[in-house]
Amino acid sequence: MTRKLKVGVVGATGMVGQTFMNIIAEREFPIEELRPFASENSLGKKIELQGKLWPVQVLSENCFDGLDLVFFSSGDDISREWAPKAVASGAFAVDNSAAFRMDPNTVLIVPEVNGHLIHSDSKPQIIANPNCSTIQLVVALKPLMDKFGIEDVRVSTYQAVSGAGKEGHDELISQTSAQTKDDSINHTPKTFPHQILFNCIPQIGSFNEEGFCSEEVKIMTETRKILGQSDLKISAFTVRIPALNAHSESVWVTLKEEASRDQVVDALQSFSGLIVQDEPQKSIYPLARDVSGNDPVYVGRIHRDPEQPKTWLMWVVSDNIRKGAALNGIQIAEKIFKF
Ligand SMILES: NC(=O)c1ccc[n+]([C@@H]2O[C@H](COP(=O)([O-])OP(=O)(O)OC[C@H]3O[C@@H](n4cnc5c(N)ncnc54)[C@H](OP(=O)(O)O)[C@@H]3O)[C@@H](O)[C@H]2O)c1
Repeated sequence: MTRKLKVGVVGATGMVGQTFMNIIAEREFPIEELRPFASENSLGKKIELQGKLWPVQVLSENCFDGLDLVFFSSGDDISREWAPKAVASGAFAVDNSAAFRMDPNTVLIVPEVNGHLIHSDSKPQIIANPNCSTIQLVVALKPLMDKFGIEDVRVSTYQAVSGAGKEGHDELISQTSAQTKDDSINHTPKTFPHQILFNCIPQIGSFNEEGFCSEEVKIMTETRKILGQSDLKISAFTVRIPALNAHSESVWVTLKEEASRDQVVDALQSFSGLIVQDEPQKSIYPLARDVSGNDPVYVGRIHRDPEQPKTWLMWVVSDNIRKGAALNGIQIAEKIFKF
């Protein structure tokens, strides 16, 4: 019989935390106890899971005692302070923030890609969940890397507002609703640097001296770490768009070997967790609205660059809250506990 787990979720009331609960229920993840954590604002709320109501708690000394697993989705500062405490109390900490991703002593896992790094005799430790845009990119790159080798990657993203959490999601909804009442309105941005409605914003995070924003740096550094290719040439450009959920990416990938289109498509569609949707003549390719709420990473518009025969273009779309965060975390937990 499968062992039931005692699980803590830090950020249980947030977009990722709520999706985590939904996926636990869908996959019948075996839970003996759920301990949901959130800010003081959520005290008094209860989270419903598997027919029971679990009261929301705030973080406090010894709050992780007795837990097997703690999932963190409350931002970098909270993870930095509390994930080591979860491990000290004997739990695995699956961390959705950026706090430990590039720590050389922490594994950064996408189960289909490098799940072998979670050993069967692993002791409680922090396991980092990558950035959402990185996860969908590496799922699409891994089969190409294994079959043909990868020389160079360029990626431009079109990222949904849900990637900025509840506040980002609500900002697009409230701007849309206000616009229907007064179409001359100029919206004051809160979460995003500019009005997101009717706009595209080429900034996600803050800029470094080289002109890259932090989301772009995450994609470049995390992709190299997950694929185990520290010399991979990769350049990213990230853009926030007024889609509600699911991130899209246009990707140029230069392979080490020449391949036919059939070989490239075959490699992609044989890979677990990846679905090819590619009939451009019928306008069939992955769309954020359709992909939202689904588990796989979708790829379409697969075609060769005629100027550079080893370079392939493709369109990669995935639900940033599911595979980009909560689902990937649960798949990590399934590997740790061998479900
Ligand atoms: N959204 C995405 O696509 C995505 C993808 C990958 C990774 N992530 C990462 O996941 C994390 C959460 O993202 P999200 O989108 O779920 O954000 P969110 O919707 O804004 O939720 C934030 C959560 O953190 C909780 N929180 C705030 N202060 C807290 C405190 N002092 N102690 C405990 N909990 C506290 C909030 O509780 P209250 O409700 O009480 O305020 C809420 O549950 C971030 O690190 C983000 O970078 C997000």
